[in-house]
Amino acid sequence: QSALSRKICALAPIIPVIVVKELPHAVPLATALVAGGLPALEVTLRTPVALDAIRAMADVEGGTVGAGTLLTPADVKAAKAAGAKFGVSPGLTETLVKACQDEGLPLLPGCVTASEVMRAMEWGYTVLKFFPAGTSGGAAAIKALGGPLPQVGFCPTGGVSLQNAPDYLKLPNVLCAGGSWVAPDAKVQAGDWTGIEALAREAAALPR
Ligand code: 3PG
Repeated sequence: QSALSRKICALAPIIPVIVVKELPHAVPLATALVAGGLPALEVTLRTPVALDAIRAMADVEGGTVGAGTLLTPADVKAAKAAGAKFGVSPGLTETLVKACQDEGLPLLPGCVTASEVMRAMEWGYTVLKFFPAGTSGGAAAIKALGGPLPQVGFCPTGGVSLQNAPDYLKLPNVLCAGGSWVAPDAKVQAGDWTGIEALAREAAALPR
């Protein structure tokens, strides 16, 4: 599980956190992000078309599409059936972890505290989402967790921007970061795929 998660996090410095409101946006959006150098895509299960969007985006050449906002075992089953290659959750529950393990879906469970991280480790997870990153102590908190828990790699998400991403990415225990800024709703609604590709290119060039 964690070996696969590590590979996904190695694909690019940033995993776009995507909200698809209209299905026709899915493929051009994924194509623009991949073309800009961001192949790992997290489609949040927050809209009625999210699963169909995953299904459509799964065919985009060079992309690795995952499902975000996994909350329940039903979400996990539906995401896997739609072709998601990985899952992301804001937290970690026993039922969610069991469903991901049953379905063979690599999961980035959300953790913030040392106890949450240790619970994830008991389930075999050493690649975790750090969420919500900005309000949970940011890069300083992740750096501090790396003292006693150096074997864990984090993907901070929530409040990450082009400007502050380097603070996270320079840490040895940060594998990549997640953020929605590379797929802003205004640009998606406007069909500004060139603009989104440019945002992706900037994010893909972030050093880590
Ligand atoms: C989310 O789940 O919405 C992510 O944490 C995205 O956060 P951001 O909009 O601050 O990048």
